[in-house]
Amino acid sequence: MVLRSGMLWLARNEQAEDLVRRSGVSRALVKRFVAGEDLSTALDRTLGINAQGMDASLDLLGESVEDEAAARAAADTYVDVLDQIQAAGVRSNISIKLTMLGLDISEEMAWGNLRRIVVHAGERGNFVRIDMEGSAYTERTLALFRRIHDEFPEAVGIVLQSYLYRTDSDVEEMIARRARVRIVKGAYNEPETVAYPHKSDVDAAFRRHIKLLIRSGNYPAIATQDEAMLRGAKLYADGIGVGQERFEFQMLYGVRRDLQEAIAAEGYNMRVYVPFGTMWYPYFMRRLAERPANMFFILKNLVRR
Ligand code: FDA
Repeated sequence: MVLRSGMLWLARNEQAEDLVRRSGVSRALVKRFVAGEDLSTALDRTLGINAQGMDASLDLLGESVEDEAAARAAADTYVDVLDQIQAAGVRSNISIKLTMLGLDISEEMAWGNLRRIVVHAGERGNFVRIDMEGSAYTERTLALFRRIHDEFPEAVGIVLQSYLYRTDSDVEEMIARRARVRIVKGAYNEPETVAYPHKSDVDAAFRRHIKLLIRSGNYPAIATQDEAMLRGAKLYADGIGVGQERFEFQMLYGVRRDLQEAIAAEGYNMRVYVPFGTMWYPYFMRRLAERPANMFFILKNLVRR
């Protein structure tokens, strides 16, 4: 737990970023979790994923954008990503972060960029998933989500994090408004005032939310690499007669590929989250924080330097 917090703290530290970026040892690991620094490489990887019977969600890496031009450029890139998905005949939607679209600058800026992307996706019959970031953004993210979902209910969905105490009621709200939810455990460093400090409580909440969403949600996405959770979700859906077509599983690019393929081969809908771009550092560090073996490897090499 202490190591996880340390790693998540480093995910926001510029000096550590510089070290990790320059270190040859992290390169191979970065390649494992990131589908490429440019869109065409990521599209190639996505075609490979599609060929194995799985869908994708392309995520342009980047967050906490602090100037207006960069936020607008991120929205432009996403519009291009949607066009290229269509042109290449790739089966993929997109995942976006509102801080990349300017949420730290102003809500109206993030709204304008978000709306432009969702309109474009809607016109192409595609779909935009709004990722959930740290708890400082939860309320603002949900407020913008409600606003865009009222206007384009079919073209946009949200992510909820089971580690937050508030999520029981957020799940109920999203079920009531027929919104498509991706449920995750939660990846950020959160204080005890807002999130369960113990993993067993996070797991219990995650199980609760998975059941609620499978039972009553609108095509929910169960996003996890936790084999026990994946098995539990399948058993639960089966037990209450919810067919495979009524929900999907989502897993991260480069994590447990064997399991992804096995679940898809059983006939379940599997979507792989495919991050790409040059701004991979915070995403990469959050992935390391989830896996002690990788974390020790990188820390040992950084300390050596
Ligand atoms: P947990 O971390 O409890 O791990 C259970 C087991 O899974 C581990 O023991 C290990 O075997 C395996 N495992 C987990 N992580 C691994 C890794 N990196 N490498 C190898 N094995 C690993 N979070 C968020 O806050 N906002 C968001 O928008 C999203 N979006 C998102 C999309 C998708 C498709 C996924 C899969 C996840 C997210 N997350 C996220 C991340 C999520 O909140 C969570 O941090 C990770 O999924 C890790 O939690 P698990 O449920 O996988 O289990």
